[in-house]
Amino acid sequence: MTNKISRRVFLKLSGGMAAGAGVMVAGVGAAQAAQGEVGRATLPYPQKSIGKAKALRNNVPVSFQYPDAASPCVMVKMGNAVPNGIGPDKDIVAYSVLCTHMGCQVSYDTQTRAFKCPCHFSTFDAEKTGQMIIGQATENLPQIMLEYNAKDDSVRAVAVNGLIYGRQSNIL
Ligand code: FES
Repeated sequence: MTNKISRRVFLKLSGGMAAGAGVMVAGVGAAQAAQGEVGRATLPYPQKSIGKAKALRNNVPVSFQYPDAASPCVMVKMGNAVPNGIGPDKDIVAYSVLCTHMGCQVSYDTQTRAFKCPCHFSTFDAEKTGQMIIGQATENLPQIMLEYNAKDDSVRAVAVNGLIYGRQSNIL
């Protein structure tokens, strides 16, 4: 007896095996995706409590650091709802204060409600997610993403939208 099989049978068998392997790979991929592990290239952001919403006063900036001590940021309660604003009035936002042009520290101007850079005068809109208004910078000010917990009135920093000046990754 020989072990020869017809070409048709061989193709049928090998096709079925390949399809089975494809199902296995897809199954593993789905499991990894469900765990959020696929394609992760950076470390997760820390969650940092940065104060109580009730303690904030309209248009008065509050300094903090996020995601680490080398990254100065400012939180402002704008007094009116703004994009990405959190809290009971959807008006609390925060930004990295390192200018995206060359890293000088911007400061919040209560008159214009914008962040201004003392080095080359770039200006960023605090009410519009840090959008650049004018100046040498080409990138918006990185926005610190916040979350509000109504149970204890706490505000937490949870992520950064945009690359903090001088970094290849926001998490070092
Ligand atoms: Fe801010 Fe140049 S460093 S505009």
